[in-house]
Amino acid sequence: MNRSVPYENLAKLNEPFYKEFKDSFSETLESGWYVLGKNVSTFEEEFAKFCEVKYCVGVASGLDALVLSLLCLELPENSEVIIPANTYIASILAVVNAKLTPILVEPDPKTCNINVQLIEEKITSKTKVILPVHLYGKLSDMEGIMKLADKHSLHVIEDCAQAHGARQNGKIAGSIGTFGAFSFYPTKNLGALGDGGAITTNNEEHYKKLKALRNYGSEIKYHNKYIGLNSRLDEVQAGFLSIKLKYLQQITTHKRKLAEVYHKELTDQVTKPLIQDDYFDVYHIYNIRTDRRSELKSYLQKNGVNSDIHYPIPPHQQLGYQHLFDGLVFSVSEEIHETTLSLPISFFHTVEDIKYVSKMINSFFE
Ligand SMILES: Cc1ncc(COP(=O)(O)O)c(C=O)c1O
Repeated sequence: MNRSVPYENLAKLNEPFYKEFKDSFSETLESGWYVLGKNVSTFEEEFAKFCEVKYCVGVASGLDALVLSLLCLELPENSEVIIPANTYIASILAVVNAKLTPILVEPDPKTCNINVQLIEEKITSKTKVILPVHLYGKLSDMEGIMKLADKHSLHVIEDCAQAHGARQNGKIAGSIGTFGAFSFYPTKNLGALGDGGAITTNNEEHYKKLKALRNYGSEIKYHNKYIGLNSRLDEVQAGFLSIKLKYLQQITTHKRKLAEVYHKELTDQVTKPLIQDDYFDVYHIYNIRTDRRSELKSYLQKNGVNSDIHYPIPPHQQLGYQHLFDGLVFSVSEEIHETTLSLPISFFHTVEDIKYVSKMINSFFE
């Protein structure tokens, strides 16, 4: 029997929360307090607790969470930041926006995250930060990264945009480096109904400075201690996020169950995400790899299944970034970009949906 399986449907994903969202919106509307009020401070406390850290600062987006973390460190201009070559452009744009230099490192082809073995050879006297990205919902090898960071006295900023609640050996995303930078873009596992982001940290001084930096560099109204940004988490969105956070564990459990179905049902002719005993993955994205991607994508479309590609063009080949990476080759990252395909894995998908998608993929390869 033919089915229609969309890749994502945000209205449907949020349907179970409509009533609570509407109540929260009315409450904020009627409170008359729309910027940096009790919704933001309540959510910050709740999210810090979720991430097992002391502090959280709500900001306007995941991109700003990265930029503000970098600005907070007050690094000399053009300091080098080590970053995976396989990531969403925001991780690299943040480094460029903070007037720093991105140094790309190939991913590990098995995990698609930064290859820790290749980091040390890129460390120079100008290196100040390692910025691992926990792509698709799997933590980077933070144990290896923290060892290198300690050895070379480097800061670590975790890009946790795709990894709310992911763990390695019990340690949760955003609690391991100097900062964790989160996005609450609507498609994320913890998604708002618009843009939003947050920074997690255990350092009180950084926490206080970040609170000022997101608000024009001001601790006291009209006194500007730093050159900051206007990058505040919105009150209305913070209200929605507190509601969604209550269900995040349920959302993660559901996505992990769907991933397990894919893992069991899918043919070994595609490369599936790596499962490791010491990792708790949250499957923001379920990506398979095949060198017949475009044929497979069209075949699925014809059979009612929408898929997506994260991401079609590697950052170092993006037009706007040619001057930074001219002539550089990152063949592992390029191979991932050419072969990766993201399958439906939203909160509203059912086990039957996933079995149907798997069946269609298997029939393509038969
Ligand atoms: C890995 C990664 N980093 C950063 C971001 C930026 O987040 P935002 O869209 O909230 O600015 C994203 C969002 O898509 C992302 O996937």
